[in-house]
Amino acid sequence: MNTRETLKANEAGHLEIGGCDALSLAKEYGTPLYVYDEAYIRSMMRVFKRTIDQEYNGNGKVLYASKAFSCLAMYRIAKDEGIGCDAVSGGELYTALKAGFNAQNIYVHGNNKTYDELCEAVDAGVGGIVIDSYREADILDKIAKEKGVKQSVLIRINPGIEAHTHAFVQTARTDSKFGFSAADGTALEYTKHVLSLKNLDLKGYHCHIGSQIFEKQSFVLAAEKMLTFISAIKAETKFEASVLNIGGGFGIYYTDEDPKLKEEDYADYLKVLINTIKAKSKEYGLNLPYLLIEPGRSIVGEAGVTLYTVGSIKDIPGVRKYVAIDGGMFENPRYALYQSKYTAVKASDVNALNVQKVSIAGKCCESGDLIGVDIPLPEIESGDILAVLSTGAYHYSMASNYNRNLIPQAILVQDGKSEVIIKKQTYEDLIRNDVIPVSLNK
Ligand code: LLP
Repeated sequence: MNTRETLKANEAGHLEIGGCDALSLAKEYGTPLYVYDEAYIRSMMRVFKRTIDQEYNGNGKVLYASKAFSCLAMYRIAKDEGIGCDAVSGGELYTALKAGFNAQNIYVHGNNKTYDELCEAVDAGVGGIVIDSYREADILDKIAKEKGVKQSVLIRINPGIEAHTHAFVQTARTDSKFGFSAADGTALEYTKHVLSLKNLDLKGYHCHIGSQIFEKQSFVLAAEKMLTFISAIKAETKFEASVLNIGGGFGIYYTDEDPKLKEEDYADYLKVLINTIKAKSKEYGLNLPYLLIEPGRSIVGEAGVTLYTVGSIKDIPGVRKYVAIDGGMFENPRYALYQSKYTAVKASDVNALNVQKVSIAGKCCESGDLIGVDIPLPEIESGDILAVLSTGAYHYSMASNYNRNLIPQAILVQDGKSEVIIKKQTYEDLIRNDVIPVSLNK
């Protein structure tokens, strides 16, 4: 089922996560329920940190891409593990700071940060802001001047590699809302512009080539292109980048179509990347840049399991069987958005043989509200607890109150103990910000 100790069948044949019986968790907390395995999260943070420490002399930092799963407890774990984070909105920055994060360990992203968000980042004293437009550079320069600081920045580069799960394409053309093209001179022009701004301190460059990537070569190519670019910029402007942020993107296991990577495999991805940076820096006579990486999904994705209770089952003869659960696109919009695939298990009998393929349907008023189609399952009945695996990344963080469904609560499990990290929403929460204006209140 998985590659780690903390997710397994216990003696009763029930699903066990972090030493907790999934059926007991469902009973205690209710469903739907996001369950997060603390040991897994920590072990992934440690793998990346250790690899930078050992293979790159500690000359870098892991920034947890908090868009994958953002809440106070998650930032607290990252802080505790001695890693930084990236924040892509004022809300993520606020949450990280509230969790006690040292602002210097936070990097701020976004292709269209608002004026307020830029002020908040400067006021907080974040470690760096990754800038992505002329307008933003100019506004940030002004804000930094007003506040009397010199703001560290990185420029987002589009290195011309689009990486997908098992493939990548190299393009000279840039059709993306993110970054400046390294190939067509626009990144060079932007660099010159940023260097001319007195209140910005350009440290280096950032790129992110995609998500859910397994192809090592795509990371190698990205690193090669970035170093080639840094060398060309140095030749042209004398500016030598001292920081290189290579983004995130390491893939995880969702179904048997994906490899099951172990800790050492993730370390290998990073080693290959580091070796490329070392080789290219040497070739071009550059100092080794300070390395930033931004893994999100690989840290928290497989740490998450969502528990559901099966409700109605509709078998349409000769067509398909719909197994409806008490969740749906409001807590997991990834099938609706990307036709994502998942593995589901019957929590009361993990080893039961799969005897059918079903569509798992959500409870929203929308035909496309599915968790997946053709998902292999054993015999299943209303009332059974269904566990969907690898739901830690981009689930809670993309949840909504569509149809005024309540966003489920989240718990952290470890060594047979469980704790709430995000409370269950209430109906009262739903109307908290609703206002009946005076004009309607007659
Ligand atoms: N850094 C930057 C600048 C990013 O844009 C992203 C993801 C990451 C790091 C983290 O990438 P990861 O290690 O998690 O692959 N909602 C989509 C994923 C969107 C990813 C966006 N950027 C999903 O559910 O698959």
